[in-house]
This record gives sequence, C-alpha cells and structure tokens, in this order.
Amino acid sequence: MDTKAILPPRPLKSPRVLIAAAVGVLGVVTAVMVPTTPAGAAASTLGAAAAQSGRYFGTAISAGRLGDSQYTTIANREFNMVTAENEMKIDATEPNRGQFNFTNGDRVYNWAVQNGKRVRGHTLAWHGQQPGWMQSLSGSSLRQAMIDHINGVMGHYKGKIYAWDVVNEAYADSGGGRRDSNLQRTGNDWIEVAFRTARAADPNAKLCYNDYNIDNWTWAKTQGVYNMVRDFKQRGVPIDCVGLQSHFNSGSPYNSNYRTTISSFAALGVDVQITELDIQGASAQTYAAVVNDCLAVTRCAGITVWGVRDQDSWRSGDTPLLFSGGNKKPAYDAVLNALNAASPGPTPTPTPTPTPTPTPTPTPTPIPDGCAATITTTNSWQGGFQSTVTVQAGGAAISEWTVRWTWPDGQSISSLWNGQQSVSGSSVTVRNAAYNGSIAAGGSTTFGFTANGTAATPTATCTSP
Ligand code: XIL
Repeated sequence: MDTKAILPPRPLKSPRVLIAAAVGVLGVVTAVMVPTTPAGAAASTLGAAAAQSGRYFGTAISAGRLGDSQYTTIANREFNMVTAENEMKIDATEPNRGQFNFTNGDRVYNWAVQNGKRVRGHTLAWHGQQPGWMQSLSGSSLRQAMIDHINGVMGHYKGKIYAWDVVNEAYADSGGGRRDSNLQRTGNDWIEVAFRTARAADPNAKLCYNDYNIDNWTWAKTQGVYNMVRDFKQRGVPIDCVGLQSHFNSGSPYNSNYRTTISSFAALGVDVQITELDIQGASAQTYAAVVNDCLAVTRCAGITVWGVRDQDSWRSGDTPLLFSGGNKKPAYDAVLNALNAASPGPTPTPTPTPTPTPTPTPTPTPIPDGCAATITTTNSWQGGFQSTVTVQAGGAAISEWTVRWTWPDGQSISSLWNGQQSVSGSSVTVRNAAYNGSIAAGGSTTFGFTANGTAATPTATCTSP
C-alpha cells in the first residue's frame, strides 16, 4: 500500500533550524557563527546609516580634489548624496552669456553617479558667484538672462538631479525682508519666476529655496522665508523643499528650536534638507542634536555636510567637519550613532534615478541622415511658449548635428540654449553647441528655446555630415 498519498507535505526546514543543526554538528561554535546582520543593526557608514530611515547623508565635493585618494576614499565610502561645492554655480556654468561650460560640473556629477550616489544641484539664481557679464546686467535683460541660465543648466542635467537649489540666499540678514541685489531689483517676483522656469525645465527635480541663518525659529530672516514658502504653497508657485544651510558658529549658533524650524517648514508641505552643515569646533553633542532634530521630522529628507575633511572646508580654521585628515573625529561617531539609533521611518517620496551619461530615448526605426529631431512644447503662456527639441542619433554615433524647421505663423525665438541658432525669415537652423555635438548610437540630447507667438510644433529635419 502506498502511504505517500495520505502524508501531509513535509515542511521545509527554516534557515534557523538549519543553522542550529550545523552548529550542533560542529559543537560549540557560539555567536561568531551568526552570519547575517539582523534588521536594525548598526550600519558602519553615514550613508548606510541614514538610509535605514529612508534618508541620505551627503557631502560637498570639489572637482579639484578628485585626484586626492584619501579624499575620494572617505567620500566614496561614507556619503550617498553629492553637491558640487562650486562647479554648478553661475560663474562656472555660464562664464560668458549664452556659452555654457559643464566641464567641472560634469566631473563632479560623473564621479558621484559612477559611485552610486545621487546629486543635488547648487545653485541657479543667486547674487553670489555671478560671472562679470551678469553682474553688470539689470532690469529685463537680467531677468531674461536668469531664465536662460536656469533653462540652460537644468536642460543639461535634465532628469539627473535629485533636487536643485533654484534660488539661493535671497533674504536679508536682518529684518525679515529680501536682500538687495541685481536680481531683486528686477522685481519682487523674480523668485517665483525662477521656480516656474525650473519646474518647466526639469519636472523631475525637487525645487528648493536655500539660505543660511534660517535655522533659528525666532529670527526674522527665518520668518521671512517661512512666509514666502507659505505664500508660494497657497498660490501654487512650484516649490518642493527648503534647504537649511546650517553653517553654525559663534555668531549663528545651533539653538534647540531648530527642530521647530524644521517641523514648521515641513508642515507647509515641503521637504526640508540640511544642505551645507558645518559646526565651528565640531562639537559631537551639537552634531548629534542636529541629526536628531532631522530624524524627528518625517519630511527632513537628508543631511549634507559642507566638505569631507577639515582641510577641505571653506572655513577650515573652524575645524567644522567630521574628518581630520583620514581620521574620524568624535563628531563622526556621534552622527553615526544618532543615525543608527533612528527607527526605520516612512520612505520619503521617490526621486529620479541618476544616470551617468546622456539618457538615450529608444527609437524603433532606423533614422535616415544619421539623426532625427522632434519639437515638443513644454510650457506656453499668452503670447509665448517654451519648447524642448530632442535630437536623436541613428544606428551610428554622430559628432555634430544641424536641425532645421520653418515657423508656420510668424513665431520668433527669444532665447535658445544648448545650441547655436541662425535665423533667416521664418527658417530656423540650429547647430550643436560645443559640448553636445557627440551623441552615441541610439542616444539623444536636447536643446531648448523660448519663443514669441502661438505655440507650434513644426516638423524638424536633422542632418549630420
Ligand atoms: C562656498 C564654497 O564652499 C567656497 O569654496 C567658495 O569660495 C564660496 O562659496 N553658501 C552657499 C555655498 O550656498 O555655495 C557657499 O560655498 C557657502 C555659503
């Protein structure tokens, strides 16, 4: 008689049973045998420890230090978010009007992404580190230059940046009002114009307002920025995050109301990011307090320290960072322990995955003449519109391209980025810029423009010699 049919299925041995059996065979092999890290066990790097609660831990990276192996070893091991310390600023990315340069920005970006890190973009509209040509502009031409700059830089990094500091340091140090600057003198609406332009240029990036001395909840400057963010949310101006630079020192010390500041901004419906943390003297206790304040607020998405080692700091005399030479300072241990003590939190909203090279758009059919171009409208308003043109290579790589189209209805380009235009009547010809002529087989790049007239998407031709 076959008894198999009536036997219940034999339960699979659990891994625990198997380990117990193995230990039994080997005799007394105690705790060292336990191979896996139980959930919630301490992580050994800042990035991994922050990730346990769905947050990031980042650093500012300087392109000029990427050849220093002590620097890159620490940075690569400890951090999972990167901000270019200077390389994506206005003077670096648009040294001459309409001429973009992404050499050093791309160095930092590529180092980050090739090492599995995300990137914060810093910064697009700021009174500081403006190139000379921008410093000397005013009025509507400065306003247009700001818009063109945002479009040019965000177009280059489209889909690749976790969050952009769209506007930096627009508030005055005291009084709670705006800082005087050439940008402010173009009209009080310059900040919201910057944010609206940024949203159209890269809808996947989080858009932040970033400032210093907005950490202490009782300070007028903090209240000024808070009121602006509240107003933006009420009126539907696109803003996703507030960056607290958090450069703490004797003139602007950490205060325990920092947690109130973070939770108050978060309650407006924006993320809070600690974007440039450094603390004069690097007190372990103060570093731990900052981390604990962030961990206490779900929408505090992550922390970036403004440099790797003390010697890398813009305020190196303050020894404000977590490493001294190759060594972890007491503040490092305090931060790591605080991050490890966090309970696993709700995962923050998903963000775009960065890619190391220009993102190819798949194409089903072979492309004649080596390339094809498609115009899409990304934004339009009374009397004007903004378009993105995707230039796609066929089965072979190309090293230069020319796109042509004819306007149907008297439209005219007001500004164009990531390409060089020549116009004759209604015929438009756009050649690649110096830095985006090369496209891999099947890959693509984009350029963009704003134009006067009714939004139109004429058929464009693309040729590559
Ligand atoms: C600083 C850099 O760290 C320095 O290397 C540079 O000389 C000046 O700018 N707020 C900001 C950052 O938003 O961009 C600043 O970075 C520090 C203050």
